[in-house]
Amino acid sequence: MKLDEFLRLNAPDELAAMTLAVAKASVTVWDNIPFKSGLLAATNPSGETQKAIDVFSNDVFAETLTATGLAAEVASEEMAEPAEGKGRTSVAMDPLDGSSNVETNNPLGSIFGFYSKKLPAPGRSLVGALYVTYGNVMTLTFSFGKGVHRFVAVRQGPNMSFELLGVDLKVPDKPEVYGIGGFRSEWIPPVRDFVDSLEGRGMRVRYCGTFVGDYNQVLGRGGVFAYPQLVKKPGGKLRVLYETAPMAFINEQAGGYATDGRKNILDIEPKSLAETSPAYVGSASLVRELESRISTAERS
Ligand code: F6P
Ligand code: MN
Repeated sequence: MKLDEFLRLNAPDELAAMTLAVAKASVTVWDNIPFKSGLLAATNPSGETQKAIDVFSNDVFAETLTATGLAAEVASEEMAEPAEGKGRTSVAMDPLDGSSNVETNNPLGSIFGFYSKKLPAPGRSLVGALYVTYGNVMTLTFSFGKGVHRFVAVRQGPNMSFELLGVDLKVPDKPEVYGIGGFRSEWIPPVRDFVDSLEGRGMRVRYCGTFVGDYNQVLGRGGVFAYPQLVKKPGGKLRVLYETAPMAFINEQAGGYATDGRKNILDIEPKSLAETSPAYVGSASLVRELESRISTAERS
């Protein structure tokens, strides 16, 4: 089944239109990755160096989404202020997740959260979320609150279409893989102890350094991806609005669980657009165990 037909049957009209817009724009981004990997002399609001492809993908997605007339605003880690629109859905996006992986051709991704409220808003006001993988194939994985579904981009000559790859995807509860960001020496002790126990349970490390790529294999194989609380950086690294809440929404729809170490990531009420939180995302029972280890350590 093709993406437009699936969306017509399974998504609210506005989200269907915005998803099709993202799908089309993501092909443009993917096609341009080989041409735009040089460094620009500019930094984003979080102080990271922007690369041409970061700026390009931000502009392509922001323009495409505002052109639908359905977005109230489009916010991104690459823009100091959200782009204003006339619609009623707020979009928060990470237009090119894992951009430090451009030169080495590791996976890249894009993340979108569709919120019913003005930003910053809690993950509980998400009405949909989507991520794109630019790997050996390009996929769209999304949820509008009724399961997680996936399409793959198929190019035949000049024609590109999105074909159904899977409906109602579930993160396996039997965990196989783990990937944890940041320096081990800086992880808080309960995270270190937990990770030390994983290989004894038959799990293996798989870490590519792109949230989307690392989460995508957790969704496929079961396990956990984390960018944890660090001893000197209690807020971790990943942004709630653009990264952790949309992925937590998808993960929850896939039967998994995502926590900031204390509570469900979807219950965080961010005060600013760029607020970060620690993130532990994956198979429900494994992530709940980690959450309880962290809270036990905090109490002692
Ligand atoms: O968006 C930030 C990001 O690039 C994520 O995609 C990724 O999970 C994380 O940073 C990797 O951070 P580190 O290089 O510190 O492991
Ligand atoms: Mn990112």
